[in-house]
Amino acid sequence: MPPTILGSRRLAWPAEAQCAAFAAALAARPGIADAAIELRGPLGAGKTTFARHLLRALGVAGRIKSPSYALMEPYRLAAGGAAAHLDFYRFADPHEWIDAGLREVYAAPGLKIAEWPDKAGDLLPPPDLRLTLEVGDDGGRSVTVEALTPLGLALLG
Ligand SMILES: Nc1ncnc2c1ncn2[C@@H]1O[C@H](COP(=O)(O)OP(=O)(O)OP(=O)(O)O)[C@@H](O)[C@H]1O
Ligand SMILES: [Mg+2]
Repeated sequence: MPPTILGSRRLAWPAEAQCAAFAAALAARPGIADAAIELRGPLGAGKTTFARHLLRALGVAGRIKSPSYALMEPYRLAAGGAAAHLDFYRFADPHEWIDAGLREVYAAPGLKIAEWPDKAGDLLPPPDLRLTLEVGDDGGRSVTVEALTPLGLALLG
């Protein structure tokens, strides 16, 4: 059974600045450090860009790479917690992910940001928040933010 959507919001991000502003607002909310976030949308929609802004807003310094080859990039947040940025685009073998520590990451506290979660089949638990990015004719992004848990609802504001 698909998880129930407890609440949703539509956002307009005409440029990357609005993406950055939303990421900064989300970073300021209590509970973000243990949230699981899914990022959906086509190639180049801005999923990694959003993940970068969110991690930066949470105090991650240094390079934030797209995890498309490494599967998973770990980070340490300024407040002390852990974060993992994952990308399932090249998902082929669930064992590869289990061996890489996916279960442990989701079982532990910490922020989880997953791109292309739909490619992971049923390997991922339902997220707290799901962002679906669409690219408009003018290059701006329309974003649907859905809360699937009480934490997600609190993050939605
Ligand atoms: N709101 C926005 N408005 C305009 N351009 C944007 C916006 N958000 C991101 N971009 C630009 O679009 C590109 C998005 O690339 P990004 O790597 O973030 O996409 P992605 O969704 O992660 O793609 P992939 O599926 O390949 O991982 C970047 O060049 C970024 O600067
Ligand atoms: Mg990406």
